[in-house]
Order: sequence, then structure tokens, then C-alpha cells
Amino acid sequence: MEKTVTYGMVGGDLKALIGECHRKGLGLDPRAQLVCGCFSAIPELNDECAEAYHVDKSRVYYDAEEMAKAEAGKIDFVSICTPNFVHYSAAKAFLENGINVVCEKPLTLKVEEAEELVRIAKEKNLLFAVDYCYSGYVMCKVMKQMIERGDIGDIIAINADYLEGCFLPLLSEQDQVNARIWRTDPKYSGISNTCADDGTHVEHLVNYVTGLKVKRLLATADTFGKKLDLNDNIILEYDNGAHGAYWFSQVACGSPNEINLRIYGSKGSLEWHQTRPDELRFAQAGKAAQTLYRNGDGIDVPAGQLGRMPMGHPEGFYVAIANIYRNFISALLKIKNGEEPTAEDMDFPDGETGLSGVKFFYAVVESANNNSKWVDLD
Ligand SMILES: NC(=O)c1ccc[n+]([C@@H]2O[C@H](COP(=O)([O-])OP(=O)(O)OC[C@H]3O[C@@H](n4cnc5c(N)ncnc54)[C@H](O)[C@@H]3O)[C@@H](O)[C@H]2O)c1
Repeated sequence: MEKTVTYGMVGGDLKALIGECHRKGLGLDPRAQLVCGCFSAIPELNDECAEAYHVDKSRVYYDAEEMAKAEAGKIDFVSICTPNFVHYSAAKAFLENGINVVCEKPLTLKVEEAEELVRIAKEKNLLFAVDYCYSGYVMCKVMKQMIERGDIGDIIAINADYLEGCFLPLLSEQDQVNARIWRTDPKYSGISNTCADDGTHVEHLVNYVTGLKVKRLLATADTFGKKLDLNDNIILEYDNGAHGAYWFSQVACGSPNEINLRIYGSKGSLEWHQTRPDELRFAQAGKAAQTLYRNGDGIDVPAGQLGRMPMGHPEGFYVAIANIYRNFISALLKIKNGEEPTAEDMDFPDGETGLSGVKFFYAVVESANNNSKWVDLD
């Protein structure tokens, strides 16, 4: 019986942001071992990474497609942690070579590319995950199960935002080159910056927690004279007829990757903030609102058992990513051992979820470019 898995990484050099978070998240899982990588498009950086990550030099590659061919049948999965424009070609290469994939979001620059990846993964019978890591937080899973159980009744309104200030300097200075600048260049980011980067997280999280799909939306997207959006406001209609409002900003001075989610139902409401991810505000009509704490009293849905630390010891971003991988690796091991993965094993954002995110930012850009007209999503 197989008990461990091996993986490779594309992107995630020593200075990269999210690759490090994937390795730390996977480091919490004794079942996973990093054995190969194409950590950077710059050869010298690749070699430095091999040493730092204890990867044998013979398994360091200078091109993702070369790595996919050479590692076919040797690794269980690959984590793709590169800028957006590399996701499609890298994911396609690994899927075509029969390797399961975990890819960063936004999944691709174009809808057709995401559709193609989903199709290849299905044809090859491979696991395909997209790292919408916030749905890995235990309290988001608790929220989902409370809503499924009917704790707040029928959903009547949603308000959500993702706010950070990382691109505020662009508004007052020359376009300076910094580590994150590829995000604002259409060559590397496609048609959207803020909505593709941050908005897709919210689109997924609301869908994950409530089960509702966006039916149509209208949007404004502020570029402040730059090439891509930096501040988006959106009104949405969901498939149950309820309406919602989202605000995504990367020029929100002083806001620290704040994700705020407020869900109102006919009997109650739930509120979650990524800056306090172990807490949930739960209100029921006619009763005083209460704060639920991860691993604390009053949580009686199964997801309440998923925490790794006692109440009060914070679980953060690395653990959220680790939780996505925990299920992905459990599913992978079941498949390797000829067993059927459970619904809990398969509880991770998949290729279809990634595709939905790409369709979402296309709809936002289409609306914003057409006097904020309503745009339907399928
Ligand atoms: N899930 C999240 O919460 C989250 C957070 C941050 C970033 N992201 C996503 O992760 C991805 C990477 O973002 P980042 O902030 O880590 O970027 P980054 O610029 O910090 O790192 C990018 C990495 O990719 C490498 N790279 C670039 N081109 C490559 C190529 N052709 N082949 C191999 N490696 C290559 C770079 O050397 C670097 O290691 C983006 O798609 C971004 O949207 C997701």
C-alpha cells in the first residue's frame, strides 16, 4: 500500500511569493516529498534552489515542458506556481504527460485555454486542482456546512471584498519595476489584473461557501490610466435570484489582503474575515449574535474537527494551503491504491472551478468596457 507521494514544482524560486507558501503548506504533510523542479526561468536561480530545497541536481530543469516529459511516470503531481502567463503551457504539458496538477490561480489568461485543460484532465483521468487557498480555511468549511444545514435559512444577500494596497505607489510614481509588476502587464496577466488576481478568490469562495453560482453581473473597473484594472466594483445576481456586491482593490491604502465575507439569510447571517480566519460571526434572528472560534464550543458540523491547533493558537495562510493539499494528497493516494476517493478527499478547488474564475473576470471586463451593462454567465 502506497503511503507517500512525490512532487515537482514549476516556479517558486528563493524570492518568489507563493511557491514558498506551497512548500511550507506541503511541509506540514509528511506524505509529500519535493523531488524535482523548474523553479525559475533563470538558470542560475534554478541551481541555487536545487541546493536550498535539497533537490538532486539531475532533476532540476530549465524548461517546464522538458521537465514534464522527463518526469512522466516518476512524480505523482506537480505544483505550478509561476506568473499567470505560464500556467496554461505548463499545466498542459504535465497533464498530457499523465501527471496530476495543482495550479495557481487565475488558471489561465483565456477561457478556451482553461476549457482545454479541464478537457485534457478529464480525458486522462487525472486530478487537477487550482489553489484557491482561502476555501482551505477551517472556518470557511464550517460556514459552508452550516449554510448547507440551513442555519441561516435561504440566502438573500451577499457582500464581499478583497482589499490590499500593493499597487498604490503606481498612482503617484513612475511605473517602477518591482517583484509584483508582471501582474499589471497584459503580456503576463492577460485582460485583467485585480479581478483575475484577487476577485477570482472571492468568486470561488462565495460559490464554495453558499453553493450559489453567479447568473449575471455588472461592473466598473478603474485603471487610473494604467493598462489593467486596479479597483473593481461589481453587482451580481445569483442563480437563486439573490443579489450581491463585491469590491476588489489593490490600491486600498492600509488594507492587508483583507477578505471580508458577509452572507445574509432569511433566518440569520454569517461573517468571516481573512485577517481573523479562526473566527466566525454567527447571528440568528431574535438572538444575540455570537462569535464561533475554530476548535471552540458551539460548532457542531463535521468541519469543526478539521483544525490542527487548539483554539486560540492561530492557523493561517500556510495551513489553508496545507488543507487544500491534505485532501488532494488523500485522493491521490486512494487512486494509487486502487480505492475510490471520498467526497471529503475530493473537497478541493478543481479545474472547473478554475475555469469558472476565468469566465468571471472576462464578464467583469466585458461589463466594465461597455458602460457597466449586465453580462450573463453560463
Ligand atoms: N493563492 C494565492 O493566494 C496566491 C497568492 C499569491 C500569488 N498567487 C499566484 O501565484 C502565481 C505566482 O505568483 P507569485 O506572487 O509567487 O509570483 P512571483 O513573481 O513572486 O514568483 C513567480 C515564480 O515563477 C518563476 N517563473 C517565471 N517564469 C517561469 C517559467 N517560464 N518557468 C519556470 N518558472 C518561472 C519565477 O522565477 C518565480 O520563481 C501567480 O499566478 C499568482 O496569481 C496566488
